[in-house]
Amino acid sequence: MRKLILAISALALAGTAAFADPIADRKALMKANGKAAGQLGAIAKGEQPFDAAAVLAALTTLSEDAAKMDVAALFPAGTDQGDTTASPKIWEDMAGFQAKVDKFKADTAAAVAAPPQDVEAVKATLGALGQNCGGCHETFRIKKS
Ligand code: HEC
Repeated sequence: MRKLILAISALALAGTAAFADPIADRKALMKANGKAAGQLGAIAKGEQPFDAAAVLAALTTLSEDAAKMDVAALFPAGTDQGDTTASPKIWEDMAGFQAKVDKFKADTAAAVAAPPQDVEAVKATLGALGQNCGGCHETFRIKKS
């Protein structure tokens, strides 16, 4: 019986290791960022009417995603290899990367605390938040053709 329990717990451990996929996790997080930014973009461009609740929901998603960006968990050593566009620069300059994450957290939290109240303000907020996306990608993401 004891042996069986040991065998089962060994299997459970192996299972956890096999399913923990930081590359997939961080890409899913980024896809959610893309979707939320797209919703704000549609309002900024006038494709969607201004809707304070929808704006706040999209900003909340961005802020929660930023808060989930645990660099150690999502970017462990060795995960510059694989199906990823994360640049090796992340691991060469962890402090610089962490600083970008921290700014993204602070800017999205500030936007949630004082959400834009009209289309013009959505444009300004999106412009400011977009610099986080572009600024980080420019340095820490490789462009794959
Ligand atoms: C602190 C750095 C950082 C910030 C800020 C950031 N990203 Fe990213 N993003 C990355 C990295 C690194 C990758 C590559 C992940 C991978 O392929 O492993 C990525 C990948 C992506 C992807 C591709 C995901 C995929 O499926 O391959 C999208 C879309 C994306 N980001 C959107 C955004 C948007 C929109 C924002 C801003 C609202 C944003 N990101 C902010 C670092 C950042």
